[in-house]
Amino acid sequence: MSSVIGEDDIRRNYSRVGTNLIEQLYGDDFLSLSGVESSDAMIAATGIDAETRVLDIGCGVGGPTLHLAETTGCHATGIDLMEWHAEEAAARAVTRGLGSRTVFKAGDATNLPFDDASFDVVWSQDAWCHVPDKAAVVREASRAVTTGGHIAFTDWVALSDMAPDYLAEVQMAVASPNFATPLLYRTWLNNEGCTVLDNEDISDRFAARYRSMIANLNALEAQVSNQFSPRVFAIMQEKNTMILKAFEDGKLGGVQIVARKP
Ligand SMILES: C[S@@+](CC[C@H](N)C(=O)[O-])C[C@H]1O[C@@H](n2cnc3c(N)ncnc32)[C@H](O)[C@@H]1O
Repeated sequence: MSSVIGEDDIRRNYSRVGTNLIEQLYGDDFLSLSGVESSDAMIAATGIDAETRVLDIGCGVGGPTLHLAETTGCHATGIDLMEWHAEEAAARAVTRGLGSRTVFKAGDATNLPFDDASFDVVWSQDAWCHVPDKAAVVREASRAVTTGGHIAFTDWVALSDMAPDYLAEVQMAVASPNFATPLLYRTWLNNEGCTVLDNEDISDRFAARYRSMIANLNALEAQVSNQFSPRVFAIMQEKNTMILKAFEDGKLGGVQIVARKP
C-alpha cells in the first residue's frame, strides 16, 4: 500500500506552531517520547565522554544534542530536515553556553552531508519513523560512523499487524510514512555489518510519556481551542486516544537499539 504521508505532512507537523505546541505538551525541549531517559541510557551504553564526536540525526530543536554536550562534554552535531529547527537549536546552544561544542545543520537523514567515518557515535531519538526509506538511514548512519563506533537510536515501531485502514489512520496521526519493526532494524544493521549490542522494548516509556502529554493537552483545552478551534482540540484528543490505545493493545511501541560497527 502506498504511503499517505509525504514530506509536506512532516513539514506541517514541525512548523513553528506545530513544534511549539509539541514542546508545550511534552513539557521540555525533547520532541521525542523516548526523551531524556533514553538519552541517559544510551550515553551509558555507548560510553560517550568529552572526546567523543556524536552525530544526532533528526535533532529537533536540540533537546538530545544539547543534553549530550551538556552532560558529557562531547562534541555534538545535530542535523534536521527542518531548517528552522537547526537554527533554533543553534540559538539555544549559544544561550546555554554550548556554542563551541555543538554544530547544527539542515539536511536529510538519507543523504548525510558528512564524510565517511566522521563520528564515533551516530545517534537518533524518534526521528526515523518520519523517513520513508529507513534502510537508507541505517546505511548512512553506518557510513558516517567510524570503525569501532556505535549507532544508538530510539524509534516508534510496529509490534503487531494492523488492518490497512487503521494503520493509515495511525500513520497519519504520527506523520509516519511507515513503521519499522525491531526485527527490520536489526536486519538492516546486520546488513551493514553492524553488531546489535542491545535491543530494548521501551513501549512502556513511550506510553507513560504519551499519557502525561494527553494530561497536559487537557489542561490546555481553553488555550488550544482559542488559538486553533474547539474542533481542532477535539480532533487532537481523538487522535491521541487512538495512539494511546495502539500502545495499550501492543500494536505500536518504542524500541531503543545500540549497535557497534566492528
Ligand atoms: C519526534 S522529533 C524528535 C526530535 C529530537 N530527536 C528530539 O528527541 O527532540 C523528529 C524530528 O525528525 C526530523 N526529521 C523528520 N524527517 C527527517 C529527515 N528525513 N531527515 C532529518 N530529520 C528529519 C523532524 O524535523 C523532527 O525534528
